[in-house]
Amino acid sequence: MEGREGTCAGGAGRASGATQDWDGLESACNACTRCPLCATRSNVVFGAGRRDAKILLVGEAPGANEDAQGLPFVGKAGSFLDDMLKTIGLGRDKNVYITNIIKCRPPGNRDPLPSEREACLPWLRGQFALMRPKLTVCLGRISAAALIGEDFKITRDHGKWFEKNGSLFTAIFHPSALLRDPRRRPDTFVDLKDIQKRVTEIGNIE
Ligand code: URA
Repeated sequence: MEGREGTCAGGAGRASGATQDWDGLESACNACTRCPLCATRSNVVFGAGRRDAKILLVGEAPGANEDAQGLPFVGKAGSFLDDMLKTIGLGRDKNVYITNIIKCRPPGNRDPLPSEREACLPWLRGQFALMRPKLTVCLGRISAAALIGEDFKITRDHGKWFEKNGSLFTAIFHPSALLRDPRRRPDTFVDLKDIQKRVTEIGNIE
């Protein structure tokens, strides 16, 4: 399927950037037919949280629960993520916005294809342009590779900070990876504390 438009060829999914407002961007995204995932999705998972937040969290792609509800991180990994955020004073209804690199569920939770990622990235660019976050936290390798750099290695580079156009980026292990392998949690705790420190430096995040 890679590189083909499949059953969703053409159509309404014009992905544009900062010229749209949030509602316009979201409804255009909800109608997206830019890649074959539109044929198998139940819902587009655009994002959730505070659109005016200074902190953006970016995961990989929706899973089955997210696809069913149209919301990011609502399964087990999502409640674990909420717990982690709470320990550092963050919350999706309080001071962060959460979205994914890919807005539609890849069947069977497979890794997104490069062509799907390329087709979908303009939506994230649009969100980024509207939000202009001070700090972006990539959740896992796929998000970090897309936003920080292709050679990003999550075991080697988690917790490091990268500056791009006046905005700071970092990555932590994906919450699902932390559920699967609790040995990674102490490192993530250190990363979270460092994120908290940076958040404090930004000040006034609500
Ligand atoms: N994993 C992700 O990367 N994103 C979600 O929304 C849910 C699980």
